[in-house]
This record gives sequence, structure tokens and C-alpha cells, in this order.
Amino acid sequence: MNKDEMKRLNFLLEIYVDVNVDKDFSVLSKNTDPFFIVNMSGQLVYVNNVCEELLQYSKNDLKNMNLSDIFISSALSDTLAFFNEKQREQLVNFDSKITLRPGNPIDVNVTTFPILFNNEVVGNYVVLKDITMIKRERQLLSEKQAAAGQLAAGIAHEIRNPITAIKGFLQLIMGEHQGEKTYFRIVESEINRVESILKELMVLAKPTKINYKKLDIRLLLDKVLTLMESQTLLKNIEVIKNFQALEVSIIGDENQMKQVFINYIKNAIEAMKDGGKLIVEGIHLNESVHIRIIDHGSGIPPEILRRINEPFFTTKEYGTGLGMLISNEIIEEHKGKLNIISNTEGTCIEVKLPITS
Ligand SMILES: Nc1ncnc2c1ncn2[C@@H]1O[C@H](COP(=O)(O)OP(=O)(O)OP(=O)(O)O)[C@@H](O)[C@H]1O
Ligand SMILES: [Mg+2]
Repeated sequence: MNKDEMKRLNFLLEIYVDVNVDKDFSVLSKNTDPFFIVNMSGQLVYVNNVCEELLQYSKNDLKNMNLSDIFISSALSDTLAFFNEKQREQLVNFDSKITLRPGNPIDVNVTTFPILFNNEVVGNYVVLKDITMIKRERQLLSEKQAAAGQLAAGIAHEIRNPITAIKGFLQLIMGEHQGEKTYFRIVESEINRVESILKELMVLAKPTKINYKKLDIRLLLDKVLTLMESQTLLKNIEVIKNFQALEVSIIGDENQMKQVFINYIKNAIEAMKDGGKLIVEGIHLNESVHIRIIDHGSGIPPEILRRINEPFFTTKEYGTGLGMLISNEIIEEHKGKLNIISNTEGTCIEVKLPITS
């Protein structure tokens, strides 16, 4: 673009700003989100009051500033690429970093859209959103999760070795004590269970071989409920199955998917101290299947619900506080969504998963 052309566009933008924005009555000037307008040379030509407060420069200083004065140098080339390459697009959204007059740079989410004058792009609106807190929290959580994963995998690994030895010796003893076979079978199956739990735990840090295949949801839920049957019987819990007519499949890892529902059903059982009804529901809706585990237990108070995905957060004497976290991660890997509704009457855990034909 030559100089004269740039001048012409900048002039058009000035008119646009004068007519549409720079007026007390204009809707845009009342916008409560920080925003500024840049011309085609990348110069700021208008800054609203909230943005002035955010950047902490005076309006006059800002008017002579360029995009390169606002975005920090390490984020600048990416940011300019958005402006230059995508200038004709309707709306562009990306994360970047800006400098403030005093102090440290902050993380912002940037939305820009072109300003059209007679069908010509004459400049850009740039709306900023301070995401420093969100970024910090996200970082903290992922650090916590990584640490929890490492710890869990470490512990699982250490317990696995002695368990393997115990299993080996058990098999030796079994050969010598034919009469007590049933007891040995129980011990053996319990050890197998411990082994599989340890395996699940190790998934947290380094996923073992994940085997994605077609899974019939009804069959999967039936298998899980069979596994949990001894627990429900013991706790006087009546299981109501509302998924018998379901004929849908998903693509997933069988063990991981089982783990998800075992975790939720275990929580439901643990919440129903005096027994009651546990409903397991499956509904086929459009392109997804909605699976609900509904208990009539104590419910999850809001302050606990907020922390439910924190590693090792538990309200139980013997809980590990990993169930919800692990399930969440597995559901995310399977492109699913989780929805929790809870009150003092009980809890409904809803898992939505994309189905396959
Ligand atoms: N269905 C539910 N009803 C009531 N509270 C629940 C329910 N599900 C989860 N919670 C609450 O959320 C907390 C965290 O659950 P999570 O499954 O992550 O860990 P946990 O059950 O305590 O331990 P574990 O690792 O053995 O599963 C529980 O301690 C409990 O307070
Ligand atoms: Mg649990």
C-alpha cells in the first residue's frame, strides 16, 4: 500500500470515528469492555475510557502509540500476523500479552474486527479482556494435576512390585492346599482387583496402551453394574436400570470407560449411607448418548462442588480424592461432556458422549 493510499484510508477512518464513536451518545463509547481502534498503519486513533484505565497511559499518550507499543515484543509478531493476514475476516480472537505503563505485562484475550467504510477496510476494532487470573489459575491447576499424576504413578509402581510377588507365592501355596480352593480364589481375585486399580492409577501420569474400539453402551453399563453388585447389595441399594432399550455405541477405551462409571457409581453408593434407589439412565439424543447416574444421597454442597476436580480433594475418611479428576480426564479424552446437578435430595451425574454408527 502506498503512502497516499494509506493517508486516504486513515482519513476515512477519522471520519468514521468522528461520526460513530467519538460521541458521548454513541453506543460504542459506552462499551464497558476495554477497546481501541487502530488505523491501517497500526496507530491507535481512539481509546475508550475503560481501556485507558486498563493500560494506565493517558488518552493523549495513547493516541500517538502504535500496536508495537501496546503488545509486548515476544507476542508482537503473532499479533501483527492476525492484523495483517486476517484483516478482511469478520472477527478474529486470540490470546496475547500487553504492556502497561507501570509494572508487568498482562495476559489478554483479543477480539478484533475490521471497520468497513464503503466496503473498504479502513481500520480495526480491538477489544481486550484481561485474562491474567484465568491464566494463572489454569497454570496452577495443571501443575497440581501433573504433580498428583506423578505421585500417583510413583505410588502405584511401588505397590505393584510386592503385589506381583504375593501373587506368585499365592499360586505356589494354592497348589499345596487343594481343600481351601474357594478361599484362595477370593484372595486371587482381590489381588487381581488391586492390580487393576494400580494400573488405572498409573494411567493418570503416563497413559498405558489405550485401545479405542466400538463399545456398546448397554453392555458396558451392564458389566459395570455387575462389578458393583456386591457393593449395592451390601449397602441396601436398589439399582434401577433405565437403559435396557439403548442400542448405541461409542468409540472408546473399554477399561477407561468402565473406570469412569465405576467412579461415579462408587460415589453414589458412598453418598447413600442409608440405602435407597440408584438410577442408571441412558438416552440416545441426536448424535450423542446421555448417561446419567442419579443417587438419592447427601448431595454435593456448592463449596465442595467447586473443588471436586482438585487432585486429592476428598471429604471421606478413606477417600483418595482422585475419582472425579480421573473420570473427568477420561471423558475429555473421549470428547465427552460432564454435567453435575446436585441438591440436598441427591445428585445427578450426566455424561454426554458422541456416538458412532
Ligand atoms: N454422588 C455424590 N454425592 C455426594 N458427594 C459426592 C458425590 N460424588 C462426589 N462427591 C464429593 O466429591 C468428593 C470428591 O469425589 P472423588 O470421587 O474425586 O473422591 P472420593 O470419592 O472422595 O475418593 P476416591 O478417590 O476414592 O473416589 C467426595 O469426597 C465427595 O465429597
Ligand atoms: Mg470417589
